[in-house]
Amino acid sequence: MWRFLCLWLFCLIPSVLSGPVVPVLAGDLLPPPRYTVDLDMPEETRWRPVLQHWNKTQYREMIRNQVLLKVMSPELLALLNVLASQIDYFLPSPYAGEIRGVANYFEMDIGEVVFLNVLYSFSATTTSCTSIVAQDSDGNIWHGRNLDFAFTEVLRNLTAEIDFQSKGKTLYTSTVFVGNVGAVTSQRPNGFTVSLNERHNGTLEENLIQILKALISRNTVFTSFQIRDALAAGDDFQSAMDRMTNKKETAPNYFIVGGVRAGEGAVITRDRLRALDVWRLNASAGRWFVLETNYDHWLPPPKTDDRRDAGNKAMEAIGQKNINLDNLLKVLSVTPVCRGETVYTTLMSAAHPGLYKTFIRRCG
Ligand SMILES: *[C@@H]1O[C@H](CO)[C@@H](O)[C@H](O)[C@H]1NC(C)=O
Ligand SMILES: *[C@@H]1O[C@H](CO)[C@@H](O)[C@H](O)[C@H]1NC(C)=O
Ligand SMILES: *[C@@H]1O[C@H](CO)[C@@H](O)[C@H](O)[C@H]1NC(C)=O
Ligand SMILES: *[C@@H]1O[C@H](CO)[C@@H](O)[C@H](O)[C@H]1NC(C)=O
Repeated sequence: MWRFLCLWLFCLIPSVLSGPVVPVLAGDLLPPPRYTVDLDMPEETRWRPVLQHWNKTQYREMIRNQVLLKVMSPELLALLNVLASQIDYFLPSPYAGEIRGVANYFEMDIGEVVFLNVLYSFSATTTSCTSIVAQDSDGNIWHGRNLDFAFTEVLRNLTAEIDFQSKGKTLYTSTVFVGNVGAVTSQRPNGFTVSLNERHNGTLEENLIQILKALISRNTVFTSFQIRDALAAGDDFQSAMDRMTNKKETAPNYFIVGGVRAGEGAVITRDRLRALDVWRLNASAGRWFVLETNYDHWLPPPKTDDRRDAGNKAMEAIGQKNINLDNLLKVLSVTPVCRGETVYTTLMSAAHPGLYKTFIRRCG
């Protein structure tokens, strides 16, 4: 597998050098491990075959000291643990059971693992990503994303590709930080692909209050669980769009969704309650790709963080006729689209599920 991917990289280099965009350095593209989660196993134990690849002590210490205690006080964490003891009340199946399984395996408090699972909901932790859905001249849909996050080094260590299977068949694939049971970068084969970008809004306290409210009211979906629900339900592009447009959520965000047919690609801009805007591909009107960073597409990006214009320029330089996953990787490697905080790049296409591929990155 690794050998195959290395060969693939060598194939890539000549085409990169002849392209219009900054070269990708092969040493910067590390494939993460790929594991299977068997959905026919009980919720509490199905992640074990994945978790066993991490040293329990090292995992626990790393999460506690380098993530949790960096964003919250021990007092707040203790409070969360009290709530988390009622996890089956607050979270639906399979999330409660799977989170309990992760906590049991690593001998952590359930509250710690719950927090790890909702960390992306905290704007203050600076997730900033770039996602692109594009349609080539033949109508194929290609989807690429960079995931940028604080705790970059820790998260590189936890990145894995997971095939969620039932009866030996992959129902969906996701790039995860091990310990997270929700989905932020995923593919339903022959259905849809999706990536989640953060929409900055509010302070840490405001975010925490929303999350606690959501847990207590039980009428709000955590975004990463919403995505996994869509994957598990076997949604096609349109039903995934409907779900992601209409359900109440714990945090504002951008969903970038790709389908299998021409025209099936969109950026959904959301606040907590609803979609504010749906921005669709429209190749006949010249919109053959949509590129989203962390700012509403109808507003200019801030000068201090303009990954959007750099990305758009690189896309235009490649052109619709030449767009494919190799060229999306080039765009996602341009400075500052790829930068110090970039943890991984994923390339995918729901109509070509075998091409799903993630690289752990080291840019900038
Ligand atoms: C896990 O890491 C700890 C601390 O670094 C070490 O003492 C222990 O031997 C490791 N366990 C295994 C099973 O490798
Ligand atoms: C994660 O970090 C530990 C400790 O530095 C290292 O032993 C391990 O190989 C890393 N795992 C991955 C998947 O990078
Ligand atoms: C967050 O979003 C709400 C509603 O969209 C808006 O009223 C508010 O000003 C935003 N807050 C920040 C800090 O951007
Ligand atoms: C695409 O854009 C054209 C021209 O602006 C418009 O007439 C058409 O309705 C759009 N198609 C879709 C599916 O939005």
